Amino acid sequence: MLSLIFSFLFLFPCAVYSRDRWTEAQATTWFQSQTYIMGSQYITSDAGNQLEMFQNDTWNPTLIDQELGLAESLGMTTMRIFLHDLAYLQDPTGFKSRVDALLTICAKHGIKPLLTIFDSCWNAYPKAGKQPEPRTGVMLSAWVQSPGVIALLDQTQWPRLQTYVTDVVGTFANDARVLGWDLWNEPDNSYNSTQVAALVQLLPQVFDWARSVNPTQPLTSGPFGTDYLNGIGGQVTQIQMNNSDVLSFHK
Ligand SMILES: *[C@@H]1O[C@H](CO)[C@@H](O)[C@H](O)[C@H]1NC(C)=O
Ligand SMILES: *[C@@H]1O[C@H](CO)[C@@H](O)[C@H](O)[C@H]1NC(C)=O
Ligand SMILES: *[C@@H]1O[C@H](CO)[C@@H](O)[C@H](O)[C@H]1NC(C)=O
Repeated sequence: MLSLIFSFLFLFPCAVYSRDRWTEAQATTWFQSQTYIMGSQYITSDAGNQLEMFQNDTWNPTLIDQELGLAESLGMTTMRIFLHDLAYLQDPTGFKSRVDALLTICAKHGIKPLLTIFDSCWNAYPKAGKQPEPRTGVMLSAWVQSPGVIALLDQTQWPRLQTYVTDVVGTFANDARVLGWDLWNEPDNSYNSTQVAALVQLLPQVFDWARSVNPTQPLTSGPFGTDYLNGIGGQVTQIQMNNSDVLSFHK
């Protein structure tokens, strides 16, 4: 009994302090404990963007189950799946219950997803609610950035972004169904210089927020372009590489 009390007291402070970035040894141990990781990006085939996939009105777990069954039949073990701050903001409890349901479907098919929190690509002005119809022949015509540039450039909205990150990563921080967290897809893809300046302030905070809830899974952020191939890379790439538990690369 005493030892139980002591271990409780000992463990409790661990939940209060933010964990450090993983060491290279921790990253290696994590990688070696994984099954073969192979997969693709995934969005439900009836959704034009992340909001349509995760909003209640268009949420379609039956289709997700069918499609992840196809991925499983090809031997795939992961999917990169994009979440969205506005789907969370609109209905935090419902959003998290849909992410939980998604993880249950993934686990049924032996798929551990890499969940993506923010994305700087495509349409800069996301709006919750009914989404525009996709335009035929235009790649990713309905895809939306998260956060949109209005929230990126308005620091009064950053606290709600912090709540999104800490609540979502925190809720699933000990969940073995999650492979990892891709905190920001290609952060400087398509931003102008004003937007990059805001990003340089925000991105390190996003890593801090995610680490503050002590995720057992690795944090990463995939760079845009190939500047990392030429030595240390530009400022945004450096922020990504310096803060990631495991490195991910895009091209
Ligand atoms: C979510 O959608 C389901 C099925 O369409 C519906 O039954 C439920 O009432 C909706 N929930 C909310 C909170 O809108
Ligand atoms: C970048 O875009 C923002 C709108 O998001 C605009 O306010 C700003 O003036 C633009 N900056 C440059 C350098 O083009
Ligand atoms: C990234 O880390 C390297 C090595 O410690 C350091 O020289 C560089 O200034 C850091 N870059 C940023 C943007 O923090």
